[in-house]
Amino acid sequence: MPIRPVLKMGDPRLLQKSQPVTTFDASLEALVTDMVDTMRALDGAGLAAPQIGVPLRLVIFGVESNPRYPQAEEVPFTVLANPVLTPRGEELEDGWEGCLSVPGMRGLVPRHLHLNYRGVDQRGNAIDRDVSGFHARVVQHECDHLDGILYPMRIRDMRLFGFTDVLFPDDPPPAE
Ligand code: NI
Repeated sequence: MPIRPVLKMGDPRLLQKSQPVTTFDASLEALVTDMVDTMRALDGAGLAAPQIGVPLRLVIFGVESNPRYPQAEEVPFTVLANPVLTPRGEELEDGWEGCLSVPGMRGLVPRHLHLNYRGVDQRGNAIDRDVSGFHARVVQHECDHLDGILYPMRIRDMRLFGFTDVLFPDDPPPAE
């Protein structure tokens, strides 16, 4: 299946609110396959359907243990449609993020440390997880795309936003 072009920040389609997935059929499977191929080709930690120009509430994410990112926690590969996120507690944590739609940059972003997320996979099977830390961060980043929010819009201190190779010459954090 083809690798799809990823829209970059500045494209108005990245600022739209996406619509719920209502049909769980072969065309949705094909879309998920394209998203997986695209995410893996670009070495991303996640991808949201609107990033390839499809305005549906559908994200994929996953991080295997990677010697390039020894500090990154593993996140199970997940296909999540129609997500509902519920923070558990008030605690926020700052962490570095990148995005395939904002290539070559990283920024420090506050996210809820503990989170419940629910939704369904591409076959309609229910997903209901309590997660923390990096897993919770990846889910929040990807699901923000479904509401037209890019991570630079959540940076509190713009001094902590810059080019990856300048901020992290040796050991860049993963991009979502
Ligand atoms: Ni992103």
